[in-house]
Amino acid sequence: MSELATHGEQQPGGHEPIDVLVVGGGVIGLSIAWRCAQRGLRTTLLERGKLGEGASRAAAGMLAPVSEMELGAAGRRILDLGLQAAQMWPDFASELSEATGIPSQLRADGALMIAHDRDAAEALERAIVFRAELGLEVKRLLASEARELEPALAPTVRLAASLPTEQSVDPRWLSQALADAARSAGAILLEEMGVSSLLRAGDRVGGVRLTDGSSVTASRVVVAAGAWSGTLGEVPVRPVKGQIVRLRDPGGAGLLSRVLRFEGGYLVPRGDGRYTLGATVEEQGFATSLTANAAYQLLRDASRVLPAVLELELEEITYGFRPGTPDNVPVIGNDSLKGLLWATGHYRNGILLTPVTAQLVLAALDGSPHPDDALLAPANSADRD
Ligand code: FAD
Ligand code: GLY
Repeated sequence: MSELATHGEQQPGGHEPIDVLVVGGGVIGLSIAWRCAQRGLRTTLLERGKLGEGASRAAAGMLAPVSEMELGAAGRRILDLGLQAAQMWPDFASELSEATGIPSQLRADGALMIAHDRDAAEALERAIVFRAELGLEVKRLLASEARELEPALAPTVRLAASLPTEQSVDPRWLSQALADAARSAGAILLEEMGVSSLLRAGDRVGGVRLTDGSSVTASRVVVAAGAWSGTLGEVPVRPVKGQIVRLRDPGGAGLLSRVLRFEGGYLVPRGDGRYTLGATVEEQGFATSLTANAAYQLLRDASRVLPAVLELELEEITYGFRPGTPDNVPVIGNDSLKGLLWATGHYRNGILLTPVTAQLVLAALDGSPHPDDALLAPANSADRD
């Protein structure tokens, strides 16, 4: 039986009635819990496993709206949201660091897009023009210029592009810092508490039912259950598996300063001799296998542009499930059911979009129109163009 209250009663154990109940303890749910608690809302978060152990633990942590951008109207929407989030990140990271005393792990060293053969160079030329036409900061570099910036690049590199505004952050720091900050602000974060369904009465959601059969009532429920969000309601979210490798240079930092993006993957330096090499994109449902082929392909593709990657020590191979939507745009905002909000579907950009998502959810909870209302995704992204 849950330690929380059942229908409308005062919570046992001294808990007050809940204003906002967040389902899911990844970076999205944690950031919402933090912001809600800061606002003085009585906030409880339910995580069915351990906090920060979903996609947020696997993520590389690139804050990369420019290099991750996609074509089309949906791509523009993600780009706009991502650029807004990227601007928020320096203050967001400082605030988190001040709130927790944990030093910020934000890095703002930019990224290089690298082409290692003729076909890749042609594709990169197009990618540069496309970004430049949108007014994004991108600079074409000769291979020799790229090697001046990153001397460990392969001599065979054909062409590069510099994206100086791209940032990165260690997502495991982010989850830890958000959890600490949320607790300090007064949020109650509960692990090993799985939600099985929403409590509905007519057109209103008034809480959740837990997997142990008990129920928890709340004025508002925010579902931030990542790739599993679709199990709780009408939201078109599916898992997109990503396998990812963590590497370490026993000699310490120095091999690489900037994020590298190349055909087949990316390599993210943490600044202390650790590197994250990602990632596969697999439509495999919730398959949890780790494959030799994934590690092989990631290392093969990375070694074409940075041969020394093969000398690094292998620390970890892991996987995560990105919460994908049909158009890859997240679902953030009120459902047509009263009392229910969604904050999910962040696909490849959930770390980047963490600060702006929490801001949008707070605006939706307030009922005040967000200054950039067009960014508030409708609850059912299947309706989007
Ligand atoms: P999650 O972190 O998955 O958290 C959801 C939580 O909800 C989980 O802890 C889960 O246990 C819990 N939950 C689910 N169902 C229930 C339930 N019924 N009851 C209670 N709890 C429940 N993004 C970037 O911005 N930059 C990157 O570089 C980047 N790299 C990535 C690399 C990989 C390999 C992967 C897989 C993802 C990457 N992403 C990246 C995407 C990013 O990780 C996700 O978009 C983001 O972590 C989603 O956060 P979330 O909180 O919504 O989901
Ligand atoms: N954003 C990187 C990834 O999803 O792999």
